[in-house]
Amino acid sequence: MQTAYTKEELRAALAPVRGKRIVLVPTMGALHEGHASLLRQARELAGDEGCVAASVFLNPVQFDNAGDLAAYPQTPEADLQVCRDCGVDVVFMPTPDVMYCSDRSVTMEETHLSTVLCGARRPGHFAGVCLVVSKLFNLVQPTDAIFGKKDYQQLAILRRMVRDLDIPVTLHGAEIVRDVDGLALSSRNVRLSPEHRAAAPAIRRALVAAAAAYAEGAPVQAVCEDVLSILSAIDGVTVDYVELVDAENLHPVTDEARPALLAVAAYFGEVRLIDNIELSRTI
Ligand code: PAF
Repeated sequence: MQTAYTKEELRAALAPVRGKRIVLVPTMGALHEGHASLLRQARELAGDEGCVAASVFLNPVQFDNAGDLAAYPQTPEADLQVCRDCGVDVVFMPTPDVMYCSDRSVTMEETHLSTVLCGARRPGHFAGVCLVVSKLFNLVQPTDAIFGKKDYQQLAILRRMVRDLDIPVTLHGAEIVRDVDGLALSSRNVRLSPEHRAAAPAIRRALVAAAAAYAEGAPVQAVCEDVLSILSAIDGVTVDYVELVDAENLHPVTDEARPALLAVAAYFGEVRLIDNIELSRTI
């Protein structure tokens, strides 16, 4: 495995595999089993001939809250070991100064899917994600890239960016990886208090119950209210949103025959957790 700390080192590391399949897994580090699963899927997709590239970069531009950025775990040595164990060929690990020019003045903004859910609560977040991912696409020039569906809105926005800008890469959405008790794996989970870690699987239970109710015809508002009341009843939890939206355009459901998404964001103490479930009516 080669580790590139600069753009020049990255270009040199990738030069021998140009023309082959290159599968990119962008991450912000603090790698856990969810990331490992993305990396293993990338290895499988790339095959023996292709190349798996991972980026480990805590992107300051996508944080709307300085405290959240400062508290984000950073474990570079362990991250490199996870990459090695998962068969990654090239890891790109730049600093913010390597990644961004100090007088950068170009932005990358998606203006429809970003106005709802997390985008409505975290101003500038998705513009920061689109900026860094478009830079990574330009630097790595991958044939494929893999993103987890826990960040469902992020994946939808990146698909739109790739479509609207004709970026020559195929995006793959990977299923959410969960702990045995159902909590979606996240780098933020290590910051949960023991009480909140014990309570957090309620998110998954509430979503599964809601999906069953929706399948059987429960009204959209009732489905959301049930999840809201379960989560709000937990000590120290503040629900940011519970929304049932169209799975493609992420705006409120207008046609219930179409696939839908129930998405949740909630603060367990200071720690913001997100999760979602794809839904459909069966009747
Ligand atoms: O999902 C993440 O970890 C980040 O938003 C990403 C895609 C690596 C961009 O910084």
